[in-house]
Formats: sequence, C-alpha cells, structure tokens
Amino acid sequence: MCGIVGIIGKNPATPLLLECLKRLEYRGYDSAGIAILEQGQIDRYRAEGKIVHLQTLVEKSNPQGTVGIGHTRWATHGVPSVRNAHPHATDLVAVVHNGIIENFRELREMLEKKGHIFTSETDTEVIAHLATEYLNQGESAKTATQKTLQQLHGAFALALLFKDKPDTIFCARRGSPLAIGLGEGEMFIGSDALALAPLTQKICYLEEGDWAEIGKTTFTVYDETNQSVTRPIKQTALTGAMIGKGDYKHFMLKEILEQPAVMGDVLHAYSNPHTMDFAFPEFPLPFEAIASLRIIACGTSYYAGLTAQYWIEKYARIPVTVDIASEFRYRKPPLPKNGVALFISQSGETADTLAALQYAKDQGQTIIGMVNVPESSIARLSDVVLETHAGPEIGVASTKAFTAQLMVLACLSLHLAGKRSLIKEDEKKDLFQALLAIPEAMNQLLLEESPFIQCSNFLLDARDVIYMGRGTSFSIAMEGALKLKELSYIHAEGYAAGEMKHGPIALIDEKVPVIVVAPSDSLYEKTASNVEEVIARKGQVVFIGDKDGIHPFKDKAAITLEMPKIHAFTAPLLYALPMQMIAYHTATLKGTDVDQPRNLAKSVTVE
Ligand code: G6P
Repeated sequence: MCGIVGIIGKNPATPLLLECLKRLEYRGYDSAGIAILEQGQIDRYRAEGKIVHLQTLVEKSNPQGTVGIGHTRWATHGVPSVRNAHPHATDLVAVVHNGIIENFRELREMLEKKGHIFTSETDTEVIAHLATEYLNQGESAKTATQKTLQQLHGAFALALLFKDKPDTIFCARRGSPLAIGLGEGEMFIGSDALALAPLTQKICYLEEGDWAEIGKTTFTVYDETNQSVTRPIKQTALTGAMIGKGDYKHFMLKEILEQPAVMGDVLHAYSNPHTMDFAFPEFPLPFEAIASLRIIACGTSYYAGLTAQYWIEKYARIPVTVDIASEFRYRKPPLPKNGVALFISQSGETADTLAALQYAKDQGQTIIGMVNVPESSIARLSDVVLETHAGPEIGVASTKAFTAQLMVLACLSLHLAGKRSLIKEDEKKDLFQALLAIPEAMNQLLLEESPFIQCSNFLLDARDVIYMGRGTSFSIAMEGALKLKELSYIHAEGYAAGEMKHGPIALIDEKVPVIVVAPSDSLYEKTASNVEEVIARKGQVVFIGDKDGIHPFKDKAAITLEMPKIHAFTAPLLYALPMQMIAYHTATLKGTDVDQPRNLAKSVTVE
C-alpha cells in the first residue's frame, strides 16, 4: 500500500529518496513520485509504474535540493497515472499521503468555489489546496498544517513540504503508521522503519493522532490536542542489509527458503526444547477463565487463524470462532464478558483488522495481537503481544510469516492445553517432538525444486484450479488457492473435501486440475474417497501426500507429489510449502511479477 518518505538533510535528497522508495516497493504500488525543494521552488517528478521509470525521469534533471518528500502510490481514488501520482502540490505546498480522506468531496467543492483548480482525481490533492488556502489567509506553515489536519476525516498518514519553509517537513499520523528517523544533521520520515534502515536505526514512532514539525537537527511532536509531547526514540534492529535479495531471483523464493530457520527461531522464542515447556507472556486472564476465543484476521493470516481453530478446540477445548476482519467489524457482534480476541496480522497495520480490534477493545475484550512487526499499531493496542519472529517479509504474498504464525499458534494450543491440564505428559512430548521435527522436514522438502516445477507446468494452461483438503488441510487448501491466484492470476478456489459433492464437483472435467492436500492423518481415507469421485469424473488430480498416502494414486493421479512423513498435528506447517512453491513456479513460468503481483499490496492500510 502507499509508502511515504521524507528527507531534510545535508546531501542531495533525490538519490536517498529513491533508495527509500525502492525499499517501500514491497508494500505494492502502481506509480511513484518525489517533490524536491530546489532554488526556492517545489519541483515534482512523477511516473506511472515502477520506480525505475521515476529514476530515469529524475536523472534527466538531476535535482540537487537537500529537502524532499517521496511516495509510492497504490491507487484508491483515481486510476494509476502520472496525474494521480503523488506528490500533489500547489505552487506553495506539496503533499504525500497514505490512507483515505473521507470528506475530500466536500472539501474539494468548498475549495473549488474559492477558486482552487484541481488537476487530479485523488482525495489527496485537497490537502495541498487546503493548506494553501490557509497560507493565503496569512497563516504560517505550522498553523496551516494544524488547521488542515483539523479539517480532514479518515485514516491516513501524510507529509507536507512548504515552498517558503525550506528547513522543515510537517507530517502526521492518524490511522496509518509513520516513523521519524534521526540522523546526524539530517532527519527522515518513512511509512516504516524498513524504508529508513540504510539511513538510520534511531526511530521515533508517531502515536495515533500525532503530528510533527521536523527540522535538520530537531523535531517536535504534537498530540491531537496540539500539545507538544515526547515520544520514545527506539534503536531498531533493522539494517539495510537485512532486506537484500542476496543471490535469489525473488524475495518470495528467499523467504520460502528461510522457513526452516524461521521455524527454529519461533520454537526458540516460545519453547524450551530441553524441558519441553512453552514460554508465553502472562495473559491478563487465568487460562481456566477463557470461555471462548475469537480469532480475527485478513488474507493469509485468516487462514492461519482457521488452522488454529482446529488445534485450539481439539487440544485446549476452548470454543473458537474465526472471522474475516472486514466482515466482523460490520456485524457488530455481541462479545462475551471476559472474552478474549486474538488478532493475527503480519504487518500489524491492516486497516480492517485494526478497526475490528478497536471494536473488540471497546467491548472490553482482552486483546492478543499476533504480529510480525513488533512496533506496529496492532502490537501497540494489544494487551498481550505474540511476535511471529519471521523477520521482514518483503514479497507481497505472505510465506514465512504464515508458517511462523502457524508455529506460534501450534505452540499456543499446546500451551493452553497444558495450562488447562487437558494434555497428558506423553501426548505433550509426542506433539512437542512433532514441532521440533518441522525445521528439518521443511529443509528436506525444499532441497528439490523439480517436483514443484512439474506441478506448475501442469497448471500453466488451466483456467480454473480447485484445491481440496479436510480438517487442518482445508485451510491449507484455501491458502494454496489464494497463493495461486494472487501470483499467477489463475482462478483457483479451495474447498473442504467433504463439500465437493455439494456443488464444486459440477466443475470437474478433464480440463480442471484438482490439487489435493492429503497428509496421512485420521481423515486421509475420507479425502481419498473424495479424490476417487473426482477421478471418476475425469478430474486431473495433483495428489500431495507422504509415501504411503500417494501410493494408491500413483497410476490414477496426473501427478503425485511426495512429502516427508510428518505427524498429523504439524502437517499444515509442512504442507503450506508446496502451496507456496507451486504458486511461485507457476508465476515465474508465466512471467508474472512474483514479488509485487498486480493490484496487490503488502500492507493494506485502507478499508
Ligand atoms: C494483504 C497481503 C496478504 C496478507 C493480508 C493480511 O492482502 O497481500 O499477503 O495476508 O494483506 O495482511 P496482514 O499484514 O494483516 O497479515
């Protein structure tokens, strides 16, 4: 989703702005731009598509100004085009913005009546005109910023550059994150610390409602009542090197291959392999008092929640409901007294998840936030934070963050079961061993790419692909379908194997590949029967199972993909990998943009 950067410094700002923007590419965008203060005026450079287009444009003019703002835009109001790309500006003010100004129509109408001429279809442009209107009324840049912010409704982050205030950038956070980076004689702003990692590791996060005035060596933060406030300065562990692609062709492949190590990190964080105990932060409620759990998330994180539902209900005997955040928030569900709600989010910034969290908080729920970004908004609003320790995930399609979520959730299920005295020592040991076996099993599976490539070649010409699974393999099937459609643009749906006969089986013919997720668990036989039904209707089956599981289908399936043998409990962790690899290779064979698929964003900060 849109990314913001800003630099007020001692060196030409352009190369640094472009570098920071490149580091924000992972969020997903369709145009980019910068504004530089140069010889007393605001110069703008904007380009549709990738940042290299912007770079080519900028190189022609080679601006030398040391103060500037930049933006990657993910279109909301108005098509991706140069006209709609940020920064938006008047002669006096330039603005970059992430989020949505809900009342932009009224503001635009009001400003047009006063003679302001708009050149884009965006909601953002009203910010530049509104600030200009205040300047025209004789206000200072600071007061113009303050008054402009007072007029804006919605959730956003923004940065403003004033022609006649060349030593200052103003910025604000309301609903979307914004970080200030502190350098030596220079200051930076960015949508996230990742963008600023090569420039500084000293970061100050604005809090909800804050706005700030940033100079070369100092900055002042104001809260929503315009009182000057102090916010902590944190040392981030992020470095420029951490998000390099190394020798990998894509971030996604790098992140897929990091999963064995990530699994080790998560196990290390939440368990003690010697005592086989789990280590979770104290919950504000006694475990016995947890009557039910609501899990709320979006996208891939939602599928992690669906998988956990099986685990937590089975082992900890806590009733679990799982909701898509965007629907949960509109249903306004009654929530129980002493209820607990778990919000799962890689970024910790997804707008719908945040809004659902706020609703649950207002209803007095205890909030657990499971995030991959510890400084994120969800982390800050949660009573208990469970970090997923996957490290920065850059590929738009979530991979290692998903399996990290699964690993934390698997540990949590057993932890809750233990605390509620619902699991015998032997069973706990057995399940714990199963968790410990995951990194090695993942390693083994990822050694050989060719089986996945074979599957991908098989899918290349398909128009529709069906994924099916039962139990915890159902959510993995849905995740597989999501991965395939987001990366390769092939239509795919995941179904519960038992539901096939209630409708989806009508779709089966010799042109429809059916990918079956069938680990050897207690449901294997039932899934195998459903596969027979598909084969009887000429369905082209890709059967994914272990050696014993694939055996009956060696001659009947179009392809069998052999998985390492694994405990049924941890199967979702391992079976998530072929879902990722098949989607990855299908996309590379089709030549689509693997790390930044069209129309998608990494962190969806609009509703
Ligand atoms: C976007 C991403 C998905 C992600 C979803 C939820 O759609 O492209 O990969 O699963 O948002 O994001 P979150 O950061 O809340 O997990």
